[in-house]
Amino acid sequence: MSLNTQIGNVKLQTPLLLASGYITETPEFFLKAQPHGCSGMVTRSLRLHVPPERTNVPAPRYSVFDQDSMLNCEWGNEKPWTDWRDRGVNQVKDTGCPIIISLSGRNLDDCCDLIQTFDEMNVDAYEVNVSCSHSGALHGNLNVDLVHLQQLMEKIRGVTVTPIWIKLSYSNLLIAMAKQAEELGANAIVCTNSIGPGMLIDTKTAKPKLGIKGGGGGVTGKAIFPIALWCVHQLSQTLAIPIVGCGGIFTADNVIQMLMAGASAVQLYTAPALKGPSVFDQIMIGLQKFLAKNPQYASVEELIGLVAGRTNEHQFSSSPPVVIEKKCTGCGACIQACAFDAIELISRPGKNALAVIKNNCISCNACVGVCPPKFNAIKASF
Ligand SMILES: Cc1cc2nc3c(=O)[nH]c(=O)nc-3n(C[C@H](O)[C@H](O)[C@H](O)COP(=O)(O)O)c2cc1C
Repeated sequence: MSLNTQIGNVKLQTPLLLASGYITETPEFFLKAQPHGCSGMVTRSLRLHVPPERTNVPAPRYSVFDQDSMLNCEWGNEKPWTDWRDRGVNQVKDTGCPIIISLSGRNLDDCCDLIQTFDEMNVDAYEVNVSCSHSGALHGNLNVDLVHLQQLMEKIRGVTVTPIWIKLSYSNLLIAMAKQAEELGANAIVCTNSIGPGMLIDTKTAKPKLGIKGGGGGVTGKAIFPIALWCVHQLSQTLAIPIVGCGGIFTADNVIQMLMAGASAVQLYTAPALKGPSVFDQIMIGLQKFLAKNPQYASVEELIGLVAGRTNEHQFSSSPPVVIEKKCTGCGACIQACAFDAIELISRPGKNALAVIKNNCISCNACVGVCPPKFNAIKASF
């Protein structure tokens, strides 16, 4: 059973990487996460010169909502890029894991200068960020700027042979941007960055919850997982270069879905940022359990792209879901969720039971979705 994978020629011991952000301003978080199964890291997006307006960090910069999702308007760089040159890169390299330098893709000359320095240190790849959603709203949306992407790729591909990963976010130009990056020499696409901008309002003050001008921020965490998965699946149908899936990954099941959608590896940010490095342990245990239960897959690499060809037709089932009586506690969540009065609670001495009224049921499976996972008492007959 192997958890190894690779993104082009960047080899990974597990499919799990730490994504770029505040917790990768320094290597410390990664150094804690690595023994738990995190097999490489992407630095915070580095800038050669932090513009003066970015040194005054808007506060508050984060707002956590629905427990596992986040809105952020992270703004500047807390630490100078030289910390990575002087200390950070070697600290990560000492673990034997790959280090990926994230560059802010806005200033092309700055990117080239940073690449020159980090090439001398043999970093494993550059991830170029053209997709920060709140920064896009304020300073121009690079995520949909094909002209800027062309200039960027021509400039940086010309100065380095180190792998270049382009980091994109959900948009209606996602495929066009990714294809252009591939044609101009990108070695992988990372998708997705935060999606947005989005907004949250503090109803006590009637003000935005974030401090940035305009009140917007990038949405990350569980709220974006299905969109990120869709992006990865779309990209995998179009590109020959590898895809790194990112967005809302908290569990082994999320990772497996990303791999099946076509990702060669995944990155996590909000999950470790909110839950700490041990989130990698839980995912590793889940991956190992999945492979042990499914011996037809000898490695995680065999999961990559498995969904391809299985999404081309509607798959209808008109059969109603099935209640597994011995697992059902009669909590009634499914009854609340059924808009068609198709589930009935039958009182029985000792234990209530559920019955699906077949004539009322339209097989929407809302009941399946709300049954608490720890009970798993209704199964789709799909
Ligand atoms: C506070 C914060 C700061 C971030 N900073 C960066 C950054 O500097 N560069 C970048 O490419 N992505 C940045 N991201 C985006 C993450 O790397 C990741 O793409 C996004 O959060 C989606 O993944 P997640 O749902 O696992 O968090 C940041 C995200 C957050 C929440």
